[in-house]
Amino acid sequence: MSDPAAPVSLQVEGLRSGYHGVTVLKGLDFAVGDEIFAVLGANGAGKSTLLATLARLIPLMAGAIRFQGEDVSRLPPYETAGRGVGYVPQEKGTFPDLTVLENLRIGGMIGRRSRDDRMAEVFELFPDLRALQAQPAGTLSGGESRMVACGRALMQDPKVLLLDEPTAGLSPLYVDMFFEKIREIHETRGVAIVLAEQNATKTLQVADRVMVLSLGEAFAVMDAAELTTQQLKEGYRI
Ligand SMILES: Nc1ncnc2c1ncn2[C@@H]1O[C@H](COP(=O)(O)OP(=O)(O)OP(=O)(O)O)[C@@H](O)[C@H]1O
Ligand SMILES: [Mg+2]
Repeated sequence: MSDPAAPVSLQVEGLRSGYHGVTVLKGLDFAVGDEIFAVLGANGAGKSTLLATLARLIPLMAGAIRFQGEDVSRLPPYETAGRGVGYVPQEKGTFPDLTVLENLRIGGMIGRRSRDDRMAEVFELFPDLRALQAQPAGTLSGGESRMVACGRALMQDPKVLLLDEPTAGLSPLYVDMFFEKIREIHETRGVAIVLAEQNATKTLQVADRVMVLSLGEAFAVMDAAELTTQQLKEGYRI
């Protein structure tokens, strides 16, 4: 459960962003603590735009992003990554020509802890990756590729992990496995999670709080435990 007393990790105030002068996110306000914070919304709601903005890949048009009290609104992505913001994009989360091991090593270029220790932790979390170490990431299946992208972000020792629809297009078995891993990452490593999702049922099973995003506007931030899939479908058409 979310703990209101827990230190705020990310704080977003009046956030506006978009592309080529077109506003997609129309002024968002929310804070993420030590929790799994889900952003639920339909296609085109602005979830990926939000996560890419938080990862500092898209410039802000207005507002501010604070990470652990520091204004990071104008920092470049490698600076926020270095401070502990990990990002797994919806697509292209790996370097396709590099092997699995090389992809993980690139993630490990950030962070202070021993790279071997972190690599061992990633293999513990995703044991399937062990046998795939020498394989080019571009030849992996969708599910394997998601694990590498997630592993690469974890190699950076993030304090908050931005996950953009990590289970989209995966088979039910992989979907279940991935949602379990998300909980595990949060609970055993103390990493706060911002999870963009369309799958309301699964999201309610793992998230502490849910923000509903529709056409770039945030409708509500609610405790997941107080919500049902039916309410989300009826109220917000998710
Ligand atoms: N690179 C871009 N240039 C211009 N417009 C874009 C770009 N990327 C996204 N958009 C627009 O921004 C809006 C929000 O898109 P976004 O990808 O953030 O939605 P989403 O909630 O992630 O959707 P999905 O669930 O389909 O991934 C859409 O109207 C989309 O067309
Ligand atoms: Mg998206």
